Amino acid sequence: MLNQKIEEAINAQINAEMWSAYLYLSMAAYCHSQGNPGMGKWFEVQFQEEQDHAKILFNYVISRGGNVTLSPIEAVPTTWNSILDVFESTLAHEQKVTSLINNLFALTTAENDYATQSMLKWFIDEQVEEEETAQTIIDNLKMIKDNGYGLYMLDKELGARVYTQASPLAGK
Ligand code: FEO
Repeated sequence: MLNQKIEEAINAQINAEMWSAYLYLSMAAYCHSQGNPGMGKWFEVQFQEEQDHAKILFNYVISRGGNVTLSPIEAVPTTWNSILDVFESTLAHEQKVTSLINNLFALTTAENDYATQSMLKWFIDEQVEEEETAQTIIDNLKMIKDNGYGLYMLDKELGARVYTQASPLAGK
């Protein structure tokens, strides 16, 4: 059984993950509109991954006999100043998500909820990867600057990204 505080906090995180999904779909549209279809595809995969994150939390609340409460997803930005700006915004957003997960983890300690804490460990590891990936792309873009061939190659590379379902959802 989940206590009230934990249930509310996980429901808020489900909303945050769905907002992230919406944000990345918007970034995908921007990249496509700027003539970077590979980056657009990369953000479409990111969109799918964020929905997985929400679903992992959704499944967990149900498995503990709690109530999932889905709330409205707020509007997301629809335009950026440049491709570099999109990825810098991605990193800033992931850093914010990391702090949300950390706060949730701290709450489970305060509430002695070790089952939820154990479930959240997957998210803690995932955030390390999310931040590192965004930082690497930013580094690449800064190296390339406005070199057209470099951008073309990076777009191709990012377009090769393939969605794989998050491991906690296997068989669910
Ligand atoms: Fe669900 Fe990108 O963190």
